[in-house]
Amino acid sequence: MTTRSNFGSKLGAVLAAAGSAVGLGNVWRFPTEVGNNGGAAFILIYLICVLLIGVPVMISEFVVGRHTHANTITAYKRLAPGSWWRIEGVAGVFVAFLILSYYVIISGWTLYYLVQSCLGTLSVAQDFKAGFSAFIAHPWWPVVYGCIFMGFTHLVVARGVQSGIERFSKVMMPLLLVIIVVLVVCSFNMPGAHDGLRFLLKPDFSKVTTRVMLSAMGQAFFSLSLAMGCLCTYASYFSSDTRLVRTAVNVSLIDTLVAIMSGFIIFPAVFSVQGVQVDEGPGLVFITLPHVFQMAFHGVPLLGSVFSVLFYLLLLLAALTSAMSLHESVTAYVHEAAHVSRPRASVVVSVACMLLGVACSLSFGPWSGFRVFGMNIFELFDFAASKVIMLLSGIVICLFVGWKLDRQLVYDEVTNGGTLRFRLFRLYLFLIRYVVPIVIGVIFVNELRQ
Ligand code: PFF
Repeated sequence: MTTRSNFGSKLGAVLAAAGSAVGLGNVWRFPTEVGNNGGAAFILIYLICVLLIGVPVMISEFVVGRHTHANTITAYKRLAPGSWWRIEGVAGVFVAFLILSYYVIISGWTLYYLVQSCLGTLSVAQDFKAGFSAFIAHPWWPVVYGCIFMGFTHLVVARGVQSGIERFSKVMMPLLLVIIVVLVVCSFNMPGAHDGLRFLLKPDFSKVTTRVMLSAMGQAFFSLSLAMGCLCTYASYFSSDTRLVRTAVNVSLIDTLVAIMSGFIIFPAVFSVQGVQVDEGPGLVFITLPHVFQMAFHGVPLLGSVFSVLFYLLLLLAALTSAMSLHESVTAYVHEAAHVSRPRASVVVSVACMLLGVACSLSFGPWSGFRVFGMNIFELFDFAASKVIMLLSGIVICLFVGWKLDRQLVYDEVTNGGTLRFRLFRLYLFLIRYVVPIVIGVIFVNELRQ
């Protein structure tokens, strides 16, 4: 057998997996969901989802990856030779590929906004909405920025697990946390901080409907990077003494903390400027916030520029560590299954993904008329990946580990061969056998109905 890389330390393993989880979803979606859906009441429901659904699914992915020490497709093939369960591995790698193709385009937009902040052009009065729409509809500028972003991701992944992904995560994740703390402190000192925090945190249980609960679960799934082969691939580099349960809990904690802190950055800032609407997703990050950065430090444009450079840098780092994990999920497969060197495998993945990425980018401009079920290419990829395949794949992972895998094998994996105690093992099994598949099934049906 050829020797396969491992993460060099437990900290490296946690930071790499946390890097995968902490991404655009934490910064631009979670805070708005909280604010609009009941504040602290939503946070409470989200935490329950993370604990009862997110952590068990993550542990299950870790079990499959660490036990086989192989890429996701080979992992399922080895554990269930000749049976249809193998499709799960294929789905994981395929969905990672699909998500990466549009994730790089949005990350490219972030890079563009970072460059503009550094040049000071974002602090000049302008119509940010028109500027953003014109930029994303441009036939080649977003592609150029997407390619540069893919280039960074490629360079890290091509260097390998220890000297690429782990080393980079060990530097970037602490840096990301420092930037968050600095931005939170700045935001707390803005005049609207009080109102922003009230919007974000005031518990309002009357807003918690079934739809809100389902959306909390969907958000937890995407935010924790579940069911895309990423965490399974990273777990295949865990050493035999890595504690799977503790790692899953730590990663989930870091991810949730970053999501909440992002709200602490965004809403005090937004509420400090009169007449600004609370928006979501790209609208929030690329239209509302540039306007806020410009207005919030009225009279001291330099402060606005510094704040916006730090904010887009934060977003870019978060996106980069997530993109690395998506890339690695596919690269590991190409490298191991097609027996090509890692650098070559990563070139194949980067180029193939970028080709799809170009189609995603053009779907905002010249190809916007091309629609399937009313969706452009970008929306179609997002729908297929994060609404359909990801959820189905989550159900299959739980059923696979809960019912198909030998119970003793699973126990040995989560307790490192019986050397650790896991008192909640029965509860964990109960959750992945019954609760999680049923809950995800309900979310899935609901998404399709919408
Ligand atoms: N968790 C990332 C986010 O919150 O933006 C997105 C993501 C990364 C999803 C990696 C899935 C994945 F495998």
